[in-house]
Amino acid sequence: MTGESTFPTFPDGFRWGVATSAYQIEGAVDVNGRGASIWDTFSHRAGAVDNGDTGDVACDHYHRYEEDIALMRELGVDSYRFSVAWPRIQPQGSGAPSSAGLDFYSRLVDELLTAGIEPCLTLYHWDLPQRLEEAGGWRERDTAGRFADYAAIVHRELGDRVRLWTTLNEPFCAAFLGYAEGRHAPGAREGHEALAAAHHLLLGHGAATAAMRAQRYGDESFGITLNLNPVTPVSDSPEDVAAARRYECYQNLAFSDPVLAGSYPDIESTVWGEISDFSFRRGGDLELIGTELDFLGVNNYFPAYVRAAPFESVDPKLRTADDIGVELDPPESLRRTTMNWPVEAAGLSRLLLWLGERYPELPPIYITENGTSGFDAPDGEGEIHDGHRIEYLDTHLRELRGAMRAGVVVHGYYCWSLLDNFEWAEGYEQRFGLVYVDFESQRRVRKDSFDWYRRAVAHSREPDGSLTG
Ligand code: FCB
Repeated sequence: MTGESTFPTFPDGFRWGVATSAYQIEGAVDVNGRGASIWDTFSHRAGAVDNGDTGDVACDHYHRYEEDIALMRELGVDSYRFSVAWPRIQPQGSGAPSSAGLDFYSRLVDELLTAGIEPCLTLYHWDLPQRLEEAGGWRERDTAGRFADYAAIVHRELGDRVRLWTTLNEPFCAAFLGYAEGRHAPGAREGHEALAAAHHLLLGHGAATAAMRAQRYGDESFGITLNLNPVTPVSDSPEDVAAARRYECYQNLAFSDPVLAGSYPDIESTVWGEISDFSFRRGGDLELIGTELDFLGVNNYFPAYVRAAPFESVDPKLRTADDIGVELDPPESLRRTTMNWPVEAAGLSRLLLWLGERYPELPPIYITENGTSGFDAPDGEGEIHDGHRIEYLDTHLRELRGAMRAGVVVHGYYCWSLLDNFEWAEGYEQRFGLVYVDFESQRRVRKDSFDWYRRAVAHSREPDGSLTG
């Protein structure tokens, strides 16, 4: 076990899980009346995704979910985080639901419960119905209302069996990568509109949470998943410190403050006050957005080390962090993943401790995603030796346990991901799974990390945390 024979024990009731999302694994994009989403349109646009890959087939999970649940059962996880594809439920983004769409998720949930695995459902992992994008997408306030309607439909159908609900996955990516950087669907490059999209996504979160709470069945928990990075300036020069504050606003506070503190961060006007009049914000919005959370989902993969880049005023296109005078410059000593993300396990505990300090009323946390990519491939024996992933998981889980001992309340951890899958703009080359997928044959092959995670989960519950056996 990366040189150590013990693995930390975790408190009773801590939930171990794996995570996926609909467009990345389901395939079956034109089955049973599913409508098109912005990711169908975007991935078919020339040059949008590496190698011209699309999610048309992906892991064919729509037809193979029973096999995939059997893998989870073998892993011994307590919970599975998946997302519902909005265009399967409402092909045009509004109106009466498709019974075939609801039925698929109902069967999935039942199969999970039969396997003793608790479903953790995400309502929006980026696959907005294309029809809604044509009406303005998240630039439009109306989309928040459409999202609340959709949430109420799914919750009415599944709320009797699903206890853990998250509204949005990573609104930062949906807004800034989708509407400013253009690297994600819908591929727009509009600074002011990206800020409007961010606000409307959060408004949708608040409205959806209120709608689901109003019809709650019993003991459901409602939360949201944010992707947050711990932020460190590379030096204590005023320029680097100021750049780090700008980046922290862009990546973290623009989402965590409204959701956890019911306010937008003060520094906001320094970062993008010149490019937006924020006319899309209305009285009462923050009350809805700041609605009480039962838990916070945190996705974290890497730390951010920030250096000041030349910056006089913000570029109205707000394409990337460059446009707010930020350069990410991690220490050379940190290993990089195949995504070029720096690896520093201590970043995870720094982030959690920072959250606890900034938000005194912080709800319990679930780590809803953490994991690493590789160009994993079978060797001559057909085995996949992904020691890099074992080391990543091992070190991050130890840091997580350390943060919990220091007082941060964390109720569970979901490894991204169960399966190799469609990694958005990077297509299929970047593999994040504990299970290797041969996309030609759809054969699933357990990687070394699958076996490691199975043992880690089992032994985290042992009194002495021994990892042997
Ligand atoms: C996150 C996404 C998830 C996956 C991982 C690697 O930003 O939520 O779908 O792509 O990154």
